[in-house]
Amino acid sequence: MITDVMKYDTVALDDENNAVVIIDQTLLPGRTELISLTTAKEIWDAIYLLKVRGAPAIGVAAAMGIYILSKQLDTEDFEVFYKKFCEYKEYLDSSRPTAVNLSWALKRMEATALRAGREEQKSVAEVKEILHMEAVRIRDEDIQVCRKIGENALLLVKPGDGILTHCNAGKLAAVRYGTATAPIYLGQERGYGFRVFADETRPLLQGARLTAFELFASGVDVTLICDNMSASVMAGGLVQAVFVGCDRVAANGDTANKIGTSVVAAVAKYYDVPVYICAPTSTIDMATPTGAEIVIEQRPSHEVTDMWYRERMAPEGVKVYNPAFDVTGHDLISGIVTEYGIARAPYTESLKEIMERKQRGGQSAESGAVPQGAEPAAGSR
Ligand code: MRU
Repeated sequence: MITDVMKYDTVALDDENNAVVIIDQTLLPGRTELISLTTAKEIWDAIYLLKVRGAPAIGVAAAMGIYILSKQLDTEDFEVFYKKFCEYKEYLDSSRPTAVNLSWALKRMEATALRAGREEQKSVAEVKEILHMEAVRIRDEDIQVCRKIGENALLLVKPGDGILTHCNAGKLAAVRYGTATAPIYLGQERGYGFRVFADETRPLLQGARLTAFELFASGVDVTLICDNMSASVMAGGLVQAVFVGCDRVAANGDTANKIGTSVVAAVAKYYDVPVYICAPTSTIDMATPTGAEIVIEQRPSHEVTDMWYRERMAPEGVKVYNPAFDVTGHDLISGIVTEYGIARAPYTESLKEIMERKQRGGQSAESGAVPQGAEPAAGSR
């Protein structure tokens, strides 16, 4: 048992012991324990059972996981190695369907293996070392990307503002800063004095168990509310902005995030509170045209009827509907905050510009050429 969750990365690599080390989030907030995952089944289960969860953290866990698994393959033949690598990749990719970071990270690892093994004719031992470096790079990038999202999102609020967030897009959903919490942590460092409202987020309580936990542990002014209280705090003028994370952003800006996000967004529109999606570009899926094409994960009924209760809280046999995510239409979204700047409507144009900016390594952000509603990144004006 460890005592200070903020001192540990959400996902880490223990290369010596061939393990991915995670904070087991199903035990929080009561117990903070690190667990080591060494087999494909352990990694798959940890993702499916939400021991590690949140789009960026799942991506990092999958990248480290496939490195650990492929490292142990006993062959000198790249094609034999690659065949088994692909089996692991497909298996890990099947653990959760909605967060695009999972398949994004696995595809990136596959492309790395192919480039090294086929194109550059490296030995299998060298390919393994290159995969190691790529997994670490994906982890390191996550930390930097979240910090940049925080800097950009900070431009949208002012000291003393009330911020509402849903689910956990925090440190526990990424490696360090989180996405939606990055501006909150940066604001905390700079004495902004934000007042944060954390939706408890039924049915799995990520807001209560994880967001309230990590913000409270960090000394942020956080107030926990039930999911049906967002209208009350907004009507009372206590919230100036909503910051949430996302699992997949479609090319038109429609955004899949934790179930209930679209309810918050609809309420926020009614009360004229802006809703910002904090999105690493790894979560933007330009191959998915609209939210209608996003596959929404359905979870087991006991999560609604039994989990977290001392005894079952619904009649035996009652029908249960338990989608893990919903899609917030782009018309309810005031801005999508990425590490390359803030996309504004029309999102088909601004997201394209953001992704092009990424391809160019952020040059247009630096040059100030920002067409079609995409705002430059903080520090690039
Ligand atoms: O089911 P979860 O807990 O993995 O859902 C997490 C969310 O919906 C987060 O808001 C999203 O992944 C963004 S995390 C930076």
